[in-house]
Amino acid sequence: MIVVKSPEEIEVMREGGGILRELLAIVKNEVRAGISTRLIDELVEEEVRRRGVIASFKGYHGYPASVCVSINDEVVHGIPGSRVVMEGDVVSIDLGVYYKGFHTDAAVTVGVGQVDDRSASLIEVTRGALEEGLKYVRAGNYVGDVSQAIQKYVESAGFAVVREYTGHGVGRALHEEPQVPNFEGEGRGPRLRRGMTLAIEPMVTAGDWRTKIANNAWTVHTADGSLSAHFEHSVAVTDGEPLVFA
Ligand code: MF3
Ligand code: CO
Repeated sequence: MIVVKSPEEIEVMREGGGILRELLAIVKNEVRAGISTRLIDELVEEEVRRRGVIASFKGYHGYPASVCVSINDEVVHGIPGSRVVMEGDVVSIDLGVYYKGFHTDAAVTVGVGQVDDRSASLIEVTRGALEEGLKYVRAGNYVGDVSQAIQKYVESAGFAVVREYTGHGVGRALHEEPQVPNFEGEGRGPRLRRGMTLAIEPMVTAGDWRTKIANNAWTVHTADGSLSAHFEHSVAVTDGEPLVFA
């Protein structure tokens, strides 16, 4: 069932999203060559605690950390640990915040120091794909209109969209209906209505779209080892432009 939020609920998600935005900005700033992914997680934990919010991912289906840090060929669900970030890495940071009964979920990808042209382009195209998708998030459109727009944008830049993982509704649960794929579907899927709250999250690769799961049973890699980037916003559908929470 797709849940439509009341204006009061949207307001709470806006506040929660504001906190998430701040946290992501702080973390983004700390991602540099030499930092371990565990330290990034510890930083998130500290900032989350200071603000009195809860990290949405920790314990979600047993996920062991507060943040996902996915590097290079890792698409999503990179588990923080001893790995150290290196110059030239493509690092995706994905974070969810639970505040007053509602989740918001967002991700950014950054290049560490000097990155090669292909990495920089992958990051820019993925960011652009999210912005392009948001142009179609509007009451009356179909979920598939958003999906199709993202795919078209990505493929015309020569990259590929991951198909095995999708965006989703977000709210009282981290993952609500509907799924929001990043491919195909123009004029299909559920109709967007005012008050729906969605996490739109293109995951893009510089090679093939197929993925595989690491031995830790979480981390998603590109099957061919190509680079991947990920951007995510949590938004509310309106009759005009979407309201971006984070
Ligand atoms: N943004 C991701 C998602 O929406 C993060 C989930 S990680 C998990 O699926 F650990 F919570 F599963
Ligand atoms: Co998400």
